Amino acid sequence: MARMSRPIDAWPDVLEAACAACAHFTRVRVVRSTASTQDVAREAAVGSVIVAGRQTAGRGRQGRAWADTGDAGLAVSFTAPHAVHSWISLAAAIAAAEASEDACMDACETAPIVQLKFPNDLLVAGRKLGGVLVERTADQTIIGIGINCSQREFPAAIAQRATSLALQGFVVDRCDLACRLIARVDQWLHAEAERVASSFRARDSLRGRVVRFVTAAGMIEGLVVDVDPLRGIVVRTSRGDQVLPPEQTSVFVEEDRIGSVQAP
Ligand code: BTN
Repeated sequence: MARMSRPIDAWPDVLEAACAACAHFTRVRVVRSTASTQDVAREAAVGSVIVAGRQTAGRGRQGRAWADTGDAGLAVSFTAPHAVHSWISLAAAIAAAEASEDACMDACETAPIVQLKFPNDLLVAGRKLGGVLVERTADQTIIGIGINCSQREFPAAIAQRATSLALQGFVVDRCDLACRLIARVDQWLHAEAERVASSFRARDSLRGRVVRFVTAAGMIEGLVVDVDPLRGIVVRTSRGDQVLPPEQTSVFVEEDRIGSVQAP
């Protein structure tokens, strides 16, 4: 049976214990409320984990916003060496998917199937459960992960596209989810390309589908053939195979074109 959620005052000790078991993350900072954990992370040393009780102005990829997490979403940023692998965003998405499943298994003895949508969206039942934002500064890489944990509803504009673990029937404590996330990001931080590729393929929601992508070169439509962590997503178009790099690629979503509302 699911137990009561841990109060935020109890988070530091629990999360520090999670870090103590890590190879790469040695310190954790819990902030009650912040605009963005990515900004707090900029001031932190490499090997830090920043966890927010609430994030009010989170950032998503490509200049999008990430909805206020209230007391229901999980917002975490990790600081890694600047030279971490270029495919870290794919590896972080795998870590977040595994952590979500782990936390559900712990709490409910069953788990949803978390799929990935290139480059780093987490999906359950075709709806967005979470996302990854990787930002690089002069001396470090900041890996931001948002997971919708306990939300029972979303704003109308995104309600059709978003989901949470709770909406999928899994009551999970955010602090437990954060512990699982810390452990999985630690495991995937320096994973080799082939391991990332095979794990991403196993969760890939796009392979075998005809998809429209927004890219730096404009809209590209084609059959998704594969994901190559070193280069990007491989798409078969009428002009032959094209490889779209993760930094400049997102799946075209009709709502993004007609409004300013962002997916959580
Ligand atoms: C996306 O789907 O576009 C990426 C969303 C990333 C959101 C996380 S929440 C923790 C970290 N802090 C932020 O401001 N953004 C990331």
